[in-house]
Amino acid sequence: MRARYPLVTSKIHGFLHGADYNPDQWLNDPDVLAEDVRLMKLANCNVMSVGIFAWATLEPEEGVYHFAWLDDVLNRLAENEIFVWLATPSGARPAWMAQKYPEVLRVNPSRQRILFGSRHNHCYTSPVYRQKVHEMNTRLAERYAEHPAVIGWHISNEYGGECHCELCQEAFRAWLRRKYGSLDNLNRAWWSAFWSHTVTDWAQIQSPAPHGETMVHGLNLDWKRFVTDQTADFMRQEIQPIRAANPNLPVTTNFMGTYNGLNYWRMVEELDVVSWDSYPTWHAGQDDTALAVQVAMTHDINRAMKHGRPFLLMESTPSTTNWQPVSKVKRPGMHLLSSIQAIAHGSDGVQYFQWRKSRGSSEKLHGAVVDHVGHEHTRVFQDVRKVGEVLQTLGPVAGTSVRPEVALIFDWENRWAIEDAQGPRNAGMHYEETVREYYQALWEQGIPVDVVDMDADLASYRLVIAPMLYMVRPGVAERVSAFVERGGIFVATYWSGIVDENDLCFLGGFPGPLRSILGIWSEEIDGLYDHDVNHIETVPANPLSLTGRYEAHELCDLIHVETADVLAYYTGDFYRGRPAITVNRAGRGYAYYVASRNRAPFHYDFISKLVKRHGLSRVLETELPPGVTAQIRTDGETDYVFIMNFASQTRPVRLPRQRWTDLLTGEPVALEHDIEPFGIRVLARPSDGHFIPIVPSGVAVLTPAGR
Ligand code: GLA
Ligand code: ZN
Repeated sequence: MRARYPLVTSKIHGFLHGADYNPDQWLNDPDVLAEDVRLMKLANCNVMSVGIFAWATLEPEEGVYHFAWLDDVLNRLAENEIFVWLATPSGARPAWMAQKYPEVLRVNPSRQRILFGSRHNHCYTSPVYRQKVHEMNTRLAERYAEHPAVIGWHISNEYGGECHCELCQEAFRAWLRRKYGSLDNLNRAWWSAFWSHTVTDWAQIQSPAPHGETMVHGLNLDWKRFVTDQTADFMRQEIQPIRAANPNLPVTTNFMGTYNGLNYWRMVEELDVVSWDSYPTWHAGQDDTALAVQVAMTHDINRAMKHGRPFLLMESTPSTTNWQPVSKVKRPGMHLLSSIQAIAHGSDGVQYFQWRKSRGSSEKLHGAVVDHVGHEHTRVFQDVRKVGEVLQTLGPVAGTSVRPEVALIFDWENRWAIEDAQGPRNAGMHYEETVREYYQALWEQGIPVDVVDMDADLASYRLVIAPMLYMVRPGVAERVSAFVERGGIFVATYWSGIVDENDLCFLGGFPGPLRSILGIWSEEIDGLYDHDVNHIETVPANPLSLTGRYEAHELCDLIHVETADVLAYYTGDFYRGRPAITVNRAGRGYAYYVASRNRAPFHYDFISKLVKRHGLSRVLETELPPGVTAQIRTDGETDYVFIMNFASQTRPVRLPRQRWTDLLTGEPVALEHDIEPFGIRVLARPSDGHFIPIVPSGVAVLTPAGR
């Protein structure tokens, strides 16, 4: 085996399969707890996340700890070879704590302290809360860090939100002092002479508030950065006693996809394994493709955050949620398909929320593996069991990954800045959607992608697509230029190179520091109403062989070519005949510029021409029908190819002639293949040498010994 990542744990020899397990809700019913284990084995589960919201059971009164119940649960699971992500319970704290120490409660942007209730709403600065968490985590770690059931730590739950209390204000001011050193620097960065907002005393600084400051973009941006840093700092403190007790146990926390409130790229360093919670509304529309694309892109972010190291699908629902506007049950096939989709993009496990449906409170009707009926004779249970079976069959795939040739930049700070700016289309700039549109074209053609932030090292990629790179942080333009000079293909669009890291506009012509590598100057940008359209038309015999006429909408950048060549022109309005797509040669590479927001047919054609022109690889050298994608994991010897049909119709797929094995059926593989609605195929072939992950040395450091 050439290129494999270490597994999450040496105790499980393949994929993880399991759920959030909340036995603390069932302690009065020992029969239920015993039955749980029988059912877990029947469902082919090998892992449970335990104790996520168990603080009140673990410490019912201040300083009085009850661990006996958890001992019993963990012992029983260990005896049955079901392993445990042990949680730290900081996601929700007990009422006695809020009563005695109100400072643990969050203050909202209107400066109102919340009452006790709900969850995920602590003050992450409060020294009392940090101390209480430290005491709890120390006890848990000392007691369980060597427990045979425990394979790692599930730190807190879905960190999120912000606190505006006085402690947080002080911490924010200290953060700003560290960052700027002086008020002069801060005032310059915040352009605070505007509207006389000059700060003359650190104490004047307040976090953004609906009844106070909202208009200073530099402040807004810094506040968001601070919230991320402070959350990461809180998390670091949570982790410290955990690692002290046993540095070999991996640590994760469950992210929430592309949740806007925290820049996850700043949190991954503290974690050994990245994991996330995925709750798509399957079957909400006529077609699930767009949703599949959205989920796929998030999987690819999670894999890219640790440079290809397998991540984990920590939560998903085996049936429905109960918080979406409509809860449609998964159609036959969808549970297996959506679970395997995570695996196809690099997850080393599939886990659910939750194991057993709660009897009361707000999640009593949320999907779970075991329903209120209490037995295994349900469609959902059998679907889960089937996923477990398939994951066992696919065991050898665990630990493999992919090294894509393509990177797509989706950057949190860039999104914050775009959303905050008042500009050409306050009706919607659609940054995330635009990134997704490019992603979709890659997905439809079965091209693996790393979705990265703008600070990523670009050296290992051949094509880098950076839609709407409005903010360009220091070093980015230099890295892009070096990448292109060395032979890389770079794609940028309108609304790029407008502001620096402080949200200050670049002077001297847009796209700022990207201007010379792109070889264009953007003079104006036209915001279009939803009912407006323009069109672009390709230049005959252009170097990309792109042909046709495409619709442009929402944003049309009016550019001048400097050193670039024109591939397409606008056809309408007063800027008819002005360049709409350009390419600039620099060194051995090419830098493309797409001046308008275009629609799906353009993205599909543009990507497919780039692939042809620049010799990029697809997972399958074949055209895939609508709704179908192909993804790959490989160890450099065997390629594991996942073909997934998200359409509700049967789709024909024509495989290229290669030495195929069907991993799920063991049957010979026909080259002409019909894939049923929501169907999957997992095929193996000898590796063709593309997409081999580079497993960094030292990656195994934090995993248990003896592997
Ligand atoms: C989140 C939480 C879980 C549960 C699910 C319900 O992901 O982490 O505790 O509330 O949502 O979908
Ligand atoms: Zn606070």
